[in-house]
Amino acid sequence: MTTKIAFGVDVGGSGIKGAPVDLATGDLADDRFKIATPQPSTPDAVVDVICELLDHFSLPVTVPVGVAFPAPIIDGQVPWIANLDQSWTGVNLGEAVQAGTGRHCTVVNDADAAGYAEVMYGAAKGHMGTVAIFTLGTGIGSALVTGGRLWPNSELGHITLPKGDAEKWTAASIKDKEGLTYPQWAKRLQVYFDEIEKLFSPDLIVVGGGVSRKHEKFLPLLKLRPPIIPAELRNTAGIVGAAVLAAQESGLLKRL
Ligand code: BGC
Repeated sequence: MTTKIAFGVDVGGSGIKGAPVDLATGDLADDRFKIATPQPSTPDAVVDVICELLDHFSLPVTVPVGVAFPAPIIDGQVPWIANLDQSWTGVNLGEAVQAGTGRHCTVVNDADAAGYAEVMYGAAKGHMGTVAIFTLGTGIGSALVTGGRLWPNSELGHITLPKGDAEKWTAASIKDKEGLTYPQWAKRLQVYFDEIEKLFSPDLIVVGGGVSRKHEKFLPLLKLRPPIIPAELRNTAGIVGAAVLAAQESGLLKRL
């Protein structure tokens, strides 16, 4: 059997990364290539980097390409954006990437990609209940997967807590910025996840993002009804999820 491959790109605030993904295992099929996110991170500058990544791997046209992006994506378009250049507002990412690369690319929210990858290959592999997956980083990304299907653009990092926008009080970047200890930060996470539990009644919560490498310092402090566990794919989750969603859209891979 030949290996089924798709290509994933993950656009982040500090780096834009890409790699081919083995769809049978969810492993990267080659080394990840990373280019610093241009500053300012305008549409033209970011699309140029995505083109550079694709050129680096010289992909056959038959390989589906997925791009994970840190904003909601509705019919390819970015309605608003929290953590990249504001000139993205209203831009059709799908069309911009297609114009730049000359190929169709599936475009998805970065946390949706990462969360879906966890359900396909990682910490929530094959879970058919309601799984809520979070990435704690510069902001808070979320993915809701229920019955193996993704509810796209959940944007639960922006629910309103008593202190305001959740990610501005609870993201991992805020922990660093305010110099919070893990127990201090965990108190904020408790407020956040209590609200998530109340609103969505997930069967399982998965926590990813760079800080999840230190999960034993804060996850055991959280008291919630559903289990709350660390993500497994870590910093490849966005790439893997974008590749998988592209492969599913193109018909190369079956949905769960
Ligand atoms: C954005 C989300 C994104 C998350 C993680 C949030 O600020 O609104 O779309 O998934 O950050 O990058």
